Amino acid sequence: MIELAAPIGRSQPFLDYLDHLSRIAPLQRPVLIIGERGTGKESAASRLHFLSGVWDGPHVKLNCAALPDSLLEDELFGHEAGAFTGAQRRRIGRFELANNGTLFLDEIANAPMAVQEKILRVIEYGELERVGGSETIKVNVRVIGATNADLPRMAQEGKFREDLLDRLAFDVVTLPPLRHRQGDIPVLADHFGRAMAHELGWTKFDGFTAPCMAALEAHDWPGNIRELKNVVERAVAHGVANKPVARIALDPFASPYRPAMRNNAAAESRPNAGPVPTDTTAHQPIDFAATVEGFERRLLAEAMAANRHNQRATALHLGLGYHQLRNLLRKYDMLKKDQE
Ligand SMILES: Nc1ncnc2c1ncn2[C@@H]1O[C@H](COP(=O)(O)OP(=O)(O)OP(=O)(O)O)[C@@H](O)[C@H]1O
Ligand SMILES: [Mg+2]
Repeated sequence: MIELAAPIGRSQPFLDYLDHLSRIAPLQRPVLIIGERGTGKESAASRLHFLSGVWDGPHVKLNCAALPDSLLEDELFGHEAGAFTGAQRRRIGRFELANNGTLFLDEIANAPMAVQEKILRVIEYGELERVGGSETIKVNVRVIGATNADLPRMAQEGKFREDLLDRLAFDVVTLPPLRHRQGDIPVLADHFGRAMAHELGWTKFDGFTAPCMAALEAHDWPGNIRELKNVVERAVAHGVANKPVARIALDPFASPYRPAMRNNAAAESRPNAGPVPTDTTAHQPIDFAATVEGFERRLLAEAMAANRHNQRATALHLGLGYHQLRNLLRKYDMLKKDQE
């Protein structure tokens, strides 16, 4: 059964990426997929498999970050009975399970050096031994790796094997982040919104109000498609059935009751901005100036607290000049008497 979802998007960077994928899919060579979190690396790997010559062969996945080193080796290569305490029976590893198909190694940067060496050997010679075994087993597997780490740099620093990188990087597909896919946000938002409305039993989906869509388009989406999907699904779930979605909350943690941030690490996270008040159809009009002022005050107060009220550190933290910061603090009457 083929589970190949239609790719959603029509921006040039996305179309270029799809074209790249289609060209390399039929080649029985390793591929490295690089992309920020939530850009669709796993979807890209599935697409490569289903467009390949081995689409009807096995499609096996393993997340290299999900297991401790010894278990990862066992998962990948399997073991013979008695290989270690508790190994009562022979176990077939993922490489063997993926024979004549595709093995997708997600988060491949997390594979330890010893495992990398064994992966390289399978790619180069199609050979492996199960843990505790002496028999050499032949497999024919296409390896697709994915990561959001900077592998060339890790290789330079001795944290990733250069020879494995050379082999994996036969072709490298880099996924465009959402903020570079101009025009795709409305298409994706409509797709996710429609699906959610259907799930909720709405009889129609009327899209988003203009301010709501403007807020979606203005956001820079560090979590990419996954983040957009969550924001849209949440907005629809909180919306009114069969009416355009009129309110979105970009930050699910935003709350007036959110515990105060106490250290710099916490202060680096997104400020407690509250939901973007995009509901132009609500009864109460939005007071733009007061909303902006509230946001600025909160941001300043949190940044000052996180920087122990040191103004130079706070200015640096907020990317403001020292005098800019002081002017803002003065404007909101937030300077202590001895600081004026
Ligand atoms: N072309 C697409 N159309 C619709 N939804 C998509 C598409 N590509 C990815 N998605 C959705 O976006 C989300 C993230 O995709 P995926 O898990 O493939 O990203 P990822 O790059 O592997 O993320 P991470 O780095 O966090 O592992 C998933 O919910 C997936 O269903
Ligand atoms: Mg992933």
